[in-house]
Amino acid sequence: MTSDAQIFDLRLARGHEDLFGQLEKLYGRRKDYGQFTKALLDVLRRSWAERPDDLKLLDLRRDLEPDWFQRPDRAGYVFYVDRFAGDLKGVLDKLDYLSDLGITYVHFMPCLKPRKGDSDGGYSVQDYRAIDPRLGTMPEFEEVAAALRARGISLCVDMVLNHTAKEHEWARKAAKGVAKYQDYYLMFDDDTLPRQYEKTLVEVFPDNAPGNFTYQAAIGKWVWTTFNTHQWDLNWANPWVFLEMAEIMLFLANKGVDVLRFDAVAFMWKRMGTRCQSEPEVHMLLHALRAASRIAAPAAIHLEEAIVGPQEMIPYLGSGEHSGAEGNLAYHNSLMVQYWSALASRETRLMTHVLRTHFPTVLPNATYATYIRCHDDIGWAVTDEDAAALGISGPAHRSFLSNFYEGGFPGSFARGELFQINEETGDKRISGTFASLAGLEKALEAGDETGIDRAIDRILLGHALIASYGGIPLIYMGDEIGLLNDYGYRDNPDHAHDSRWVHRPHMDWDAARAAQAGHDSPAARIYAGTQHILARRAAMRAFHAGYPTVIVDTWQNGLFAFQRQSPAQPALCLFNFTESWRSIGVDWAHVNGVQLLYDGLSDAPVSDGSDRIALPPYARLWLL
Ligand code: GLC
Repeated sequence: MTSDAQIFDLRLARGHEDLFGQLEKLYGRRKDYGQFTKALLDVLRRSWAERPDDLKLLDLRRDLEPDWFQRPDRAGYVFYVDRFAGDLKGVLDKLDYLSDLGITYVHFMPCLKPRKGDSDGGYSVQDYRAIDPRLGTMPEFEEVAAALRARGISLCVDMVLNHTAKEHEWARKAAKGVAKYQDYYLMFDDDTLPRQYEKTLVEVFPDNAPGNFTYQAAIGKWVWTTFNTHQWDLNWANPWVFLEMAEIMLFLANKGVDVLRFDAVAFMWKRMGTRCQSEPEVHMLLHALRAASRIAAPAAIHLEEAIVGPQEMIPYLGSGEHSGAEGNLAYHNSLMVQYWSALASRETRLMTHVLRTHFPTVLPNATYATYIRCHDDIGWAVTDEDAAALGISGPAHRSFLSNFYEGGFPGSFARGELFQINEETGDKRISGTFASLAGLEKALEAGDETGIDRAIDRILLGHALIASYGGIPLIYMGDEIGLLNDYGYRDNPDHAHDSRWVHRPHMDWDAARAAQAGHDSPAARIYAGTQHILARRAAMRAFHAGYPTVIVDTWQNGLFAFQRQSPAQPALCLFNFTESWRSIGVDWAHVNGVQLLYDGLSDAPVSDGSDRIALPPYARLWLL
């Protein structure tokens, strides 16, 4: 009989170099390094010993199927528990809805105990070991996690790595003057160093939380607060912070979390004279955390939230010495930005250029989380260099996109709200739901039938894009029925300052039920289309994330295409980002590896026997 301890030793042996190789580089010179590594080994052993048997079985299953998260039958849905289902128990009643839509992965937006009042949507965490009492209890959480597991739905939960709420136990002790806990954060006796750091830092929330430091009068110190003043940045240069967070991570994994979404990881390491984002040490820390999970909770994987420029993003999925050993998943925010950019400009040259230039065709042991909308604003991560490569001005294009999606630009179909205007950089971000930004709100208000059709097509184009590109497509709650902007946030004093709440509506269950029942409405058409896309995706072997995604030229500005190069059944995905009819040559499809001229999405032939393939407005084809 193999014992549990033997299995742990095997796992430790496999992960040892990945874990301690990184930690040694980060902390090896400290006097307490030996003490730290001993404590860490204890944490790993203890967490493993406490890991429930059914999760250990899952560990084994995923050892045998390491590509479980890359398969085309994985499709995600992201929601606030309260806004979707009231509370955790309520989620159990919604599982049929999720399964009906084709969902096999859910992300509960922040559900750990936040500070009271404004908590940045739950990203200001007071206690990582407790569930937000408004949503339920830890035993209820475990029950829901088990129910999801039984259905084959994996569960993603946020773990904020960069900061805690100032009400967190550690922060409270720090505020009382306990030196050990003051060293968990970044505190300064006067503003000399903060002012030096500020010279190269950017402001994340320039409107309502300008600057990166907050003065704490009670202790007479300046505290590093990148985001809001109530979010205190952790000091990851202190190994004991690593230890605490590793222990929490394994605690959550042992409760049944499959995917840990590590929030705001780019900011974890500070270096004078830099933007303090994506420093090399961030990747060492993430590599070490991944190794710790692989040792003591191997079924759990990591999703890195780093909303950064295209060049900066790929390392979060592991490159160089971290290849295959860092994030399993990371948000593909460039794909998202390029979708919106192409829709507004009716041009796809920039999209083709950016996706081809900065992203490898295949990733080892990792894949993207693809999405069109999420709970955050859209920042126009188009670099001046990429714009210039196509003869476009970066600042002018970014400003055009903001104006277009705010709705002010002449002819714009969109309705959105500005988020955080940075006077210094001219940066303006955008909030709004998928449907409102894609034109549904304006068209419904105007009673414009063609406009409604166009908006629905844009939404389904987006869903088809993220379902085929490679990675886990994440549908943000309500985007399967076209929920519109919710302006009610302006009346809530905790939310009024933050326009991101405009796209965090409550689920409209009447609309959802009617949509499921197939009533004739925009919501029903979007629902049916989304469900169809996910069902077809699950059946397409070429959409396994392990197969290369190769961007191909369409030679038409307005069309975008890529191949999914599976040896057995390759696919050629083609999208028309304009509201006009287009066509493309049959020979183009042949040259790009497609013989049948059969559309795997509509499940029908595309050719009428002529030498052109007709492309209606916003067409999306998955040619086989
Ligand atoms: C991430 C979250 C965002 C939050 C920030 C600070 O970017 O997605 O909602 O405001 O981190 O925690």
